Amino acid sequence: MKNNIFILKKIDEEIIKQLVNIYCSAFSKFYFRNWSFQDFIDLINNGYSIFYSIYNDKVIGFAVVSFNKDFSEIITIAVESNYQRKNVGRNLLNYIMSSADFEGNFILDVAIINTVAIKFYEKAGFKEIGKRHNYYLICEGDNVGQKIDAAVMQL
Ligand SMILES: CC(C)(COP(=O)(O)OP(=O)(O)OC[C@H]1O[C@@H](n2cnc3c(N)ncnc32)[C@H](O)[C@@H]1OP(=O)(O)O)[C@@H](O)C(=O)NCCC(=O)NCCS
Repeated sequence: MKNNIFILKKIDEEIIKQLVNIYCSAFSKFYFRNWSFQDFIDLINNGYSIFYSIYNDKVIGFAVVSFNKDFSEIITIAVESNYQRKNVGRNLLNYIMSSADFEGNFILDVAIINTVAIKFYEKAGFKEIGKRHNYYLICEGDNVGQKIDAAVMQL
C-alpha cells in the first residue's frame, strides 16, 4: 500500500492526538500502560525521532526511534488496526533504516507474548539476543500487576 512517511519535527497537536489513538488501539489487547499526549511531547523534547505514515490525510502508523552513534533503538512501531498487514510497518522500518541519522546497529525490546511483532521484526532480519525479565507491567484487566518478559532483538 502506498503511503507517505514524514518526521514529526515539532509539536503538532492534531498529529499527536492521532498517534495517541493509534498507540492505544494497537496495544489495547496487552493491557500495558497507554501512552498519553504528554508522553509524545516528552519524547519530542527529549530528542526521540517520530516517523509517521499518512494515507488519505490520516495517520495510519508511526515509529519512535532513538538514534545513537553505536546503536539505535526502536522504541515502538504501531499501525492502526484496519491498516495492519499492508506493509505500513515494513515501509516505516525500511525508511528508518535508510535514514541519514543511522550509523550502527538497531536494537529493540518486545514483549514475549507479542508474537505478531516478533514475527514482524524477524521478517525484517532482527534476531533475539537476550531477554529482560519482568520488563513490561500489565496495568489493567484480570492479570493486573503481572510482569511480562521482553525479548531483546538486534539487527
Ligand atoms: C507489529 C506491527 C507494527 C506490524 O505492522 P504491519 O504494517 O501490520 O506489518 P507489515 O504488513 O509491514 O508486515 C511485514 C511482515 O511482518 C510479518 N507480519 C506482520 N503481521 C503479521 C501477522 N499478523 N502474523 C504473522 N506475521 C506478520 C509478516 O512476515 C509480514 O510480511 P508478509 O505480509 O510478506 O508475510 C503491527 O502488527 C502492530 O501495530 N501491532 C500492534 C503494536 C505492536 O505490537 N508493535 C510492536 C511493538 S514493539
